[in-house]
Amino acid sequence: MLPTSIDDPPTQKYLLESLSDRDRLYLMFDLLHDSFLDDVGRALGYAGKSLHPDADFRLLDGACGEGLHAAEIGKHHPRAEVVAFDRDPEAMQTAPLAFAQPNVRYLLHDAQEPLPADVTRGFDVAQLRFCLTHLTDPLRALGHLRDALRPGGVLYLIDPRADAFDYDHPSMRVLSDAIMRSWEHFGTSAAGERQAPLLAQAGFEILDSAPQDHVAGGTTEHGKGIMKLIIETARSTRKALVETTKLISGDEFDEHLRRLALPENPPRVGRCRFQVTFARNP
Ligand SMILES: C[S@@+](CC[C@H](N)C(=O)[O-])C[C@H]1O[C@@H](n2cnc3c(N)ncnc32)[C@H](O)[C@@H]1O
Repeated sequence: MLPTSIDDPPTQKYLLESLSDRDRLYLMFDLLHDSFLDDVGRALGYAGKSLHPDADFRLLDGACGEGLHAAEIGKHHPRAEVVAFDRDPEAMQTAPLAFAQPNVRYLLHDAQEPLPADVTRGFDVAQLRFCLTHLTDPLRALGHLRDALRPGGVLYLIDPRADAFDYDHPSMRVLSDAIMRSWEHFGTSAAGERQAPLLAQAGFEILDSAPQDHVAGGTTEHGKGIMKLIIETARSTRKALVETTKLISGDEFDEHLRRLALPENPPRVGRCRFQVTFARNP
Protein backbone atom coordinates (compact mmCIF):
# COMPACT_ATOMS: atom_id res chain seq x y z
CA MET A 1 0.00 0.00 0.00
CA LEU A 2 1.65 3.27 -1.09
CA PRO A 3 0.50 6.73 -0.06
CA THR A 4 -1.33 7.99 -3.18
CA SER A 5 0.59 11.23 -3.01
CA ILE A 6 3.05 12.68 -0.58
CA ASP A 7 0.94 15.88 -0.76
CA ASP A 8 -2.39 14.27 0.00
CA PRO A 9 -1.84 11.26 2.19
CA PRO A 10 -4.98 9.27 3.05
CA THR A 11 -5.39 8.06 6.61
CA GLN A 12 -8.75 6.35 6.23
CA LYS A 13 -7.48 3.37 4.28
CA TYR A 14 -5.27 2.23 7.12
CA LEU A 15 -7.93 1.89 9.77
CA LEU A 16 -9.29 -1.59 9.08
CA GLU A 17 -6.54 -4.14 8.56
CA SER A 18 -3.38 -5.29 10.31
CA LEU A 19 -0.50 -3.37 8.83
CA SER A 20 2.88 -4.46 7.49
CA ASP A 21 5.94 -2.58 8.80
CA ARG A 22 5.94 -0.56 5.61
CA ASP A 23 2.28 0.44 5.91
CA ARG A 24 2.89 1.42 9.51
CA LEU A 25 5.57 3.86 8.33
CA TYR A 26 3.14 5.31 5.78
CA LEU A 27 0.47 5.70 8.43
CA MET A 28 3.01 7.38 10.71
CA PHE A 29 3.97 9.76 7.90
CA ASP A 30 0.33 10.64 7.30
CA LEU A 31 -0.39 11.27 10.96
CA LEU A 32 2.79 13.07 11.96
CA HIS A 33 3.28 15.00 8.77
CA ASP A 34 2.27 18.42 10.16
CA SER A 35 4.32 18.02 13.31
CA PHE A 36 7.26 16.83 11.16
CA LEU A 37 7.14 20.13 9.23
CA ASP A 38 7.02 22.05 12.55
CA ASP A 39 10.03 20.07 13.85
CA VAL A 40 12.19 20.47 10.77
CA GLY A 41 11.17 24.15 10.48
CA ARG A 42 12.23 24.77 14.07
CA ALA A 43 15.53 22.96 13.57
CA LEU A 44 16.26 25.01 10.46
CA GLY A 45 15.34 28.20 12.37
CA TYR A 46 17.83 27.34 15.13
CA ALA A 47 20.43 26.80 12.40
CA GLY A 48 19.71 30.24 10.88
CA LYS A 49 17.81 28.80 7.90
CA SER A 50 14.12 28.43 7.08
CA LEU A 51 11.54 26.22 5.41
CA HIS A 52 10.72 28.90 2.83
CA PRO A 53 10.16 27.27 -0.58
CA ASP A 54 13.24 29.06 -1.96
CA ALA A 55 15.44 28.29 1.02
CA ASP A 56 18.77 26.63 0.42
CA PHE A 57 19.80 24.27 3.16
CA ARG A 58 21.45 20.89 3.56
CA LEU A 59 19.54 18.25 5.51
CA LEU A 60 20.75 14.85 6.66
CA ASP A 61 17.86 12.47 7.30
CA GLY A 62 19.13 9.60 9.43
CA ALA A 63 17.15 6.32 9.54
CA CYS A 64 14.82 7.76 6.92
CA GLY A 65 12.74 4.60 6.34
CA GLU A 66 11.63 4.74 2.72
CA GLY A 67 12.40 8.44 2.56
CA LEU A 68 8.90 9.92 2.68
CA HIS A 69 10.00 12.96 4.69
CA ALA A 70 13.19 13.38 2.66
CA ALA A 71 11.24 13.25 -0.60
CA GLU A 72 8.72 15.77 0.62
CA ILE A 73 11.43 18.25 1.59
CA GLY A 74 13.22 17.68 -1.72
CA LYS A 75 10.03 18.21 -3.71
CA HIS A 76 8.92 21.42 -1.99
CA HIS A 77 12.39 22.92 -1.57
CA PRO A 78 14.18 22.56 -4.89
CA ARG A 79 17.23 24.51 -3.67
CA ALA A 80 17.68 22.23 -0.68
CA GLU A 81 19.99 19.24 -0.74
CA VAL A 82 18.94 16.17 1.21
CA VAL A 83 20.98 13.08 2.03
CA ALA A 84 18.80 10.34 3.50
CA PHE A 85 20.06 7.04 4.82
CA ASP A 86 18.74 3.86 6.38
CA ARG A 87 20.33 0.52 7.20
CA ASP A 88 17.39 -1.43 5.73
CA PRO A 89 18.37 -2.60 2.20
CA GLU A 90 14.75 -3.02 1.11
CA ALA A 91 13.86 0.53 2.18
CA MET A 92 16.90 1.89 0.36
CA GLN A 93 15.99 -0.02 -2.80
CA THR A 94 12.40 1.24 -2.69
CA ALA A 95 13.12 4.88 -1.86
CA PRO A 96 14.92 5.92 -5.09
CA LEU A 97 12.28 4.11 -7.16
CA ALA A 98 9.13 5.25 -5.37
CA PHE A 99 10.23 8.60 -3.93
CA ALA A 100 12.92 9.90 -6.29
CA GLN A 101 13.73 13.62 -6.24
CA PRO A 102 16.68 15.16 -8.08
CA ASN A 103 17.97 16.87 -4.93
CA VAL A 104 17.65 13.82 -2.64
CA ARG A 105 20.32 11.16 -2.35
CA TYR A 106 19.47 7.85 -0.68
CA LEU A 107 22.18 5.84 0.97
CA LEU A 108 22.30 2.37 2.51
CA HIS A 109 24.10 3.17 5.73
CA ASP A 110 24.15 2.31 9.44
CA ALA A 111 23.93 5.31 11.79
CA GLN A 112 26.49 3.70 14.10
CA GLU A 113 29.16 3.86 11.35
CA PRO A 114 30.95 6.99 10.03
CA LEU A 115 29.31 8.49 6.95
CA PRO A 116 30.97 7.39 3.69
CA ALA A 117 33.83 9.66 2.58
CA ASP A 118 32.00 10.84 -0.56
CA VAL A 119 29.22 12.49 1.50
CA THR A 120 30.17 16.14 1.92
CA ARG A 121 29.96 17.19 5.58
CA GLY A 122 28.72 20.58 6.78
CA PHE A 123 24.97 19.84 7.00
CA ASP A 124 22.78 22.60 8.44
CA VAL A 125 20.36 20.17 10.07
CA ALA A 126 20.33 16.46 10.82
CA GLN A 127 17.24 14.58 11.97
CA LEU A 128 16.93 11.19 13.59
CA ARG A 129 13.25 10.40 13.82
CA PHE A 130 12.20 7.31 15.77
CA CYS A 131 15.60 5.63 15.54
CA LEU A 132 17.30 6.03 18.93
CA THR A 133 15.19 3.14 20.31
CA HIS A 134 16.85 0.82 17.77
CA LEU A 135 20.45 1.74 18.58
CA THR A 136 22.68 -0.36 20.80
CA ASP A 137 25.38 2.35 20.80
CA PRO A 138 23.46 5.63 20.55
CA LEU A 139 26.44 7.75 21.60
CA ARG A 140 28.46 6.50 18.66
CA ALA A 141 25.64 7.38 16.25
CA LEU A 142 25.24 10.85 17.77
CA GLY A 143 28.99 11.41 17.43
CA HIS A 144 28.84 10.59 13.71
CA LEU A 145 25.90 12.93 13.24
CA ARG A 146 27.78 15.68 15.02
CA ASP A 147 30.74 15.17 12.68
CA ALA A 148 28.36 15.56 9.75
CA LEU A 149 27.02 18.95 10.91
CA ARG A 150 28.67 22.32 10.36
CA PRO A 151 29.54 24.35 13.47
CA GLY A 152 26.17 25.86 14.51
CA GLY A 153 24.33 23.06 12.71
CA VAL A 154 21.39 21.49 14.55
CA LEU A 155 20.40 17.90 15.24
CA TYR A 156 16.92 17.03 16.41
CA LEU A 157 15.61 13.74 17.72
CA ILE A 158 12.07 12.47 18.17
CA ASP A 159 11.41 9.27 20.11
CA PRO A 160 8.76 7.65 22.27
CA ARG A 161 8.91 8.31 26.00
CA ALA A 162 8.34 5.70 28.70
CA ASP A 163 4.78 7.05 28.96
CA ALA A 164 4.29 7.02 25.17
CA PHE A 165 1.13 4.89 25.34
CA ASP A 166 -0.87 6.97 27.82
CA TYR A 167 -4.19 5.21 27.26
CA ASP A 168 -6.08 4.01 30.32
CA HIS A 169 -7.02 0.47 29.29
CA PRO A 170 -6.04 -2.73 31.14
CA SER A 171 -4.67 -4.38 28.00
CA MET A 172 -2.59 -1.31 27.16
CA ARG A 173 -0.99 -1.46 30.61
CA VAL A 174 0.00 -5.12 30.14
CA LEU A 175 1.41 -4.61 26.63
CA SER A 176 3.13 -1.36 27.39
CA ASP A 177 4.82 -2.83 30.51
CA ALA A 178 6.06 -5.82 28.49
CA ILE A 179 7.35 -3.57 25.70
CA MET A 180 9.22 -1.35 28.16
CA ARG A 181 10.73 -4.36 29.98
CA SER A 182 11.83 -6.02 26.75
CA TRP A 183 13.30 -2.99 25.07
CA GLU A 184 16.64 -2.93 26.86
CA HIS A 185 17.42 -6.22 25.07
CA PHE A 186 17.08 -4.60 21.64
CA GLY A 187 18.31 -1.03 21.83
CA THR A 188 17.86 2.13 23.85
CA SER A 189 14.89 1.91 26.21
CA ALA A 190 12.91 5.02 27.25
CA ALA A 191 14.74 6.74 24.40
CA GLY A 192 12.70 9.95 24.73
CA GLU A 193 13.96 10.57 28.26
CA ARG A 194 17.55 9.73 27.28
CA GLN A 195 17.81 12.16 24.36
CA ALA A 196 19.08 15.21 26.26
CA PRO A 197 21.64 13.38 28.47
CA LEU A 198 23.00 11.48 25.46
CA LEU A 199 23.20 14.59 23.30
CA ALA A 200 25.04 16.47 26.07
CA GLN A 201 27.44 13.53 26.42
CA ALA A 202 28.06 13.62 22.67
CA GLY A 203 29.13 17.27 22.95
CA PHE A 204 25.94 18.99 21.77
CA GLU A 205 24.46 22.11 23.32
CA ILE A 206 20.80 21.43 24.18
CA LEU A 207 18.46 24.08 22.76
CA ASP A 208 15.09 22.65 23.77
CA SER A 209 13.64 19.34 24.90
CA ALA A 210 9.90 18.87 25.38
CA PRO A 211 7.16 16.28 25.03
CA GLN A 212 4.97 16.26 21.94
CA ASP A 213 1.47 15.00 22.67
CA HIS A 214 -1.09 13.55 20.28
CA VAL A 215 -4.68 12.60 21.13
CA ALA A 216 -5.17 8.82 20.85
CA GLY A 217 -8.64 7.39 20.27
CA GLY A 218 -11.80 9.49 20.63
CA THR A 219 -13.91 10.53 17.68
CA THR A 220 -11.57 12.46 15.37
CA GLU A 221 -9.90 10.79 12.37
CA HIS A 222 -6.50 11.86 13.67
CA GLY A 223 -7.16 10.39 17.14
CA LYS A 224 -8.38 7.14 15.59
CA GLY A 225 -5.32 7.05 13.36
CA ILE A 226 -2.97 7.57 16.33
CA MET A 227 -4.75 4.74 18.16
CA LYS A 228 -4.29 2.54 15.10
CA LEU A 229 -0.60 3.48 15.07
CA ILE A 230 -0.28 2.52 18.76
CA ILE A 231 -1.97 -0.85 18.18
CA GLU A 232 0.15 -1.61 15.11
CA THR A 233 3.34 -0.55 16.89
CA ALA A 234 2.43 -2.92 19.72
CA ARG A 235 1.67 -5.66 17.17
CA SER A 236 5.13 -5.20 15.62
CA THR A 237 6.72 -6.19 18.95
CA ARG A 238 4.99 -9.63 19.04
CA LYS A 239 8.06 -11.65 18.05
CA ALA A 240 10.29 -9.78 20.51
CA LEU A 241 7.87 -10.23 23.40
CA VAL A 242 6.56 -13.72 22.71
CA GLU A 243 9.53 -15.54 21.14
CA THR A 244 12.70 -13.69 22.08
CA THR A 245 12.14 -12.48 25.62
CA LYS A 246 9.13 -14.73 26.36
CA LEU A 247 7.61 -12.01 28.55
CA ILE A 248 4.09 -12.95 27.48
CA SER A 249 2.46 -15.92 25.73
CA GLY A 250 1.28 -15.62 22.14
CA ASP A 251 -2.37 -16.19 23.11
CA GLU A 252 -2.23 -13.58 25.84
CA PHE A 253 -0.57 -11.08 23.51
CA ASP A 254 -3.16 -11.59 20.77
CA GLU A 255 -6.04 -11.33 23.22
CA HIS A 256 -4.80 -8.00 24.61
CA LEU A 257 -4.39 -6.59 21.11
CA ARG A 258 -7.90 -7.78 20.21
CA ARG A 259 -9.39 -6.11 23.28
CA LEU A 260 -7.55 -2.86 22.57
CA ALA A 261 -9.02 -2.71 19.08
CA LEU A 262 -12.65 -3.32 20.18
CA PRO A 263 -14.96 -0.36 19.51
CA GLU A 264 -16.22 1.36 22.67
CA ASN A 265 -19.14 3.68 23.29
CA PRO A 266 -18.28 6.38 24.15
CA PRO A 267 -14.82 5.99 22.56
CA ARG A 268 -11.97 6.02 25.07
CA VAL A 269 -9.50 8.92 24.74
CA GLY A 270 -5.82 8.91 25.71
CA ARG A 271 -2.52 10.42 24.63
CA CYS A 272 0.49 9.29 22.68
CA ARG A 273 3.64 11.03 23.86
CA PHE A 274 6.98 11.56 22.15
CA GLN A 275 9.97 13.61 23.20
CA VAL A 276 11.56 16.08 20.78
CA THR A 277 14.99 17.50 21.50
CA PHE A 278 16.89 20.12 19.50
CA ALA A 279 20.63 20.42 20.00
CA ARG A 280 23.41 22.48 18.41
CA ASN A 281 26.86 21.42 17.30
CA PRO A 282 28.84 24.20 19.05
C1 LIG B 1 10.29 3.71 12.99
S1 LIG B 1 11.26 3.78 11.56
C2 LIG B 1 11.32 5.56 11.31
C3 LIG B 1 11.54 5.95 9.88
C4 LIG B 1 11.54 7.46 9.62
N1 LIG B 1 12.59 8.13 10.35
C5 LIG B 1 10.19 8.06 9.96
O1 LIG B 1 10.13 8.92 10.85
O2 LIG B 1 9.22 7.70 9.31
C6 LIG B 1 12.86 3.39 12.14
C7 LIG B 1 13.89 3.27 11.04
O3 LIG B 1 15.17 3.22 11.64
C8 LIG B 1 15.98 2.41 10.82
N2 LIG B 1 17.17 2.05 11.60
C9 LIG B 1 17.21 1.33 12.74
N3 LIG B 1 18.48 1.24 13.17
C10 LIG B 1 19.26 1.90 12.28
C11 LIG B 1 20.65 2.16 12.17
N4 LIG B 1 21.52 1.68 13.06
N5 LIG B 1 21.10 2.89 11.12
C12 LIG B 1 20.24 3.36 10.19
N6 LIG B 1 18.91 3.13 10.24
C13 LIG B 1 18.42 2.43 11.27
C14 LIG B 1 15.05 1.26 10.46
O4 LIG B 1 15.52 0.52 9.35
C15 LIG B 1 13.74 2.01 10.19
O5 LIG B 1 13.63 2.37 8.84
